[in-house]
Amino acid sequence: MATTQETPGSRTDRSAVRTLLRLWPYVRPVRARWFTAAAVAVVASCLALVIPLVLKWMVDGPITDRDPAGVWLGALFLFLLGIGEALLFGLRRWLVARPLAGVEASMRAELYRHLQRLPVAFHDRWASGQLLSRGTTDLMLVRMFLAFPLTFLLVNSVTILVGVVIMLVQDVALGLVILVPAVPVMVMCVVFEKRYALVARRAQDQVGDLTTLVEESVLGIRIIKGFGRHRSQARAFREMARTLRGTELHKARLLATIWAVIITLPELAIGAALVLGTVRVADGDLSAGTLVAFLSTALALRWPVDSIGFLLAMSQEAATATERYFEVMDAVPEDREVAKAQEGEAGRGLRFEGVRFRYPDAPEGSPPVLDGVDLHIRPGESMALVGATGSGKTTLTALVPRLYEPTSGRITLDGRDITAMPREELRALVAVAFEEPTLFSASVADNVLMGTAAEAGEPQLERALSVAQAGFAHDLPQGTATQVGEQGLSLSGGQRQRLALARAVVGRPRFLVLDDPLSALDVHTEALVEAALRDVLAETTALIVAHRPSTVLLADRVALLSGGRVAAVGTHHELLRDNAEYAHLMAGTEEAAR
Ligand SMILES: Nc1ncnc2c1ncn2[C@@H]1O[C@H](COP(=O)(O)OP(=O)(O)OP(=O)(O)O)[C@@H](O)[C@H]1O
Ligand SMILES: [Mg+2]
Repeated sequence: MATTQETPGSRTDRSAVRTLLRLWPYVRPVRARWFTAAAVAVVASCLALVIPLVLKWMVDGPITDRDPAGVWLGALFLFLLGIGEALLFGLRRWLVARPLAGVEASMRAELYRHLQRLPVAFHDRWASGQLLSRGTTDLMLVRMFLAFPLTFLLVNSVTILVGVVIMLVQDVALGLVILVPAVPVMVMCVVFEKRYALVARRAQDQVGDLTTLVEESVLGIRIIKGFGRHRSQARAFREMARTLRGTELHKARLLATIWAVIITLPELAIGAALVLGTVRVADGDLSAGTLVAFLSTALALRWPVDSIGFLLAMSQEAATATERYFEVMDAVPEDREVAKAQEGEAGRGLRFEGVRFRYPDAPEGSPPVLDGVDLHIRPGESMALVGATGSGKTTLTALVPRLYEPTSGRITLDGRDITAMPREELRALVAVAFEEPTLFSASVADNVLMGTAAEAGEPQLERALSVAQAGFAHDLPQGTATQVGEQGLSLSGGQRQRLALARAVVGRPRFLVLDDPLSALDVHTEALVEAALRDVLAETTALIVAHRPSTVLLADRVALLSGGRVAAVGTHHELLRDNAEYAHLMAGTEEAAR
């Protein structure tokens, strides 16, 4: 599985702002509320800056004049300001909470939909944990960013600006003293941002790797236990967890550094302003009220300034998360169909013409799995496909429903190039059952009927179950309504295989592609399925991967796949007589064929 370094598409050069701007289409629907909330927050935050002005009025007015009524009035005013600020912040939260949860949900839905449409080759390349962590952790980071750092970067900037203006208006000299540290703080912020971006990306990729490991361990728990690998698996997990911890600590150190700078420098500046201000009040060039107002404005600005460090950090994480999200969203889904339909009597049936194929992730220079396959299966004919293990049989069958695209050459169904057909049409024409039967967490009936259009009902289900000799379904606790799959009843390998076969035949497809569909069955059940399949095969054009002579005998002809090509075509008996490789493959099981 892919490790961090190989995660497809990971890059280091990028601009956080440009990346984050890509979120706009998702935020657009809630923009009115978001901007209202931001405006409310700006107002609330600026209300806090009125407090120092009230203090100034109190110190220079009622307090100097020893007027208790004035002091009470000022206190009441301060109280109302506090209440107003709190209410406004509450309103902001109420405004954005629900719409932003909606944004997260719609991004997640779109990711899921996109993943379903991406070609199988994409999923071969990407570790599932990387996809999982993008759909969960990363999207949560994006939502938090929209709710919090994005708003507060705006709110704090406005507040700081307004505060600085107020301070300069109070007293220019003191204002400049406070402003001096701004330059080094800004420089530090820029440096910090760059470093933090790299570490944040590394951490999020490592979370993806860890997720992959956990997922594989859970899915492969039988193998792990069966081979006593739990220790090495636990070791691998500890390793990864430790690496992730190291990265997180690195993040924390960076954050601590920037925070130290952001907090210390302004604090020093406030101290300096206090000394300078006190001296000037003593000298009588500054009113006590002005100094109080000035210092309380400076103190009111402390939170907006201090928080900038972690707001930037959160924004970086969100940018990384957005980037990881779009790495998947930018992957091109299965191509829209190219119209190049050709009809021709000559090509009726299923035909492979000069089909070459190599897996996109195959190592450079290795020979292609399929190297010029030519094969014609006549309408209504069943063709068995035989070949040594690893010869490419499964690969060839996967090309028919276009799970992969041939590197060159073409495949036609009744003379029509499969790339010229809409995918829905192709998949309605062709039904498949693969070596590893997959059942979904749904009822038996739903699992089987998945193989056909919606209008199929009880009779079709019954027929498919009987062809596949899957009568056992009726003896399950709730019959065909029994839940199976990961969240339901566990079925045996042979039972699953028969349900997968039933799924393939339920829609009476014109073309049937079966990859070793009977491998897990005992000889008696196999014979029963074969007898029933004969009727189905009589009316379809079929390609059946087979290992056993008994399965081969179901077919009208046999094709031998060898060295990436179809080396021979003929009946079972012809090939046994004329082809040494075929005879060798079938040797030992020959008695069963008689
Ligand atoms: N997803 C994949 N990515 C890269 N290479 C693959 C992939 N699947 C199979 N291969 C390679 O392609 C070759 C053919 O595999 P394939 O599964 O088609 O063989 P097969 O004839 O079906 O074998 P078997 O009889 O064991 O089922 C093998 O060398 C295999 O390593
Ligand atoms: Mg195979």
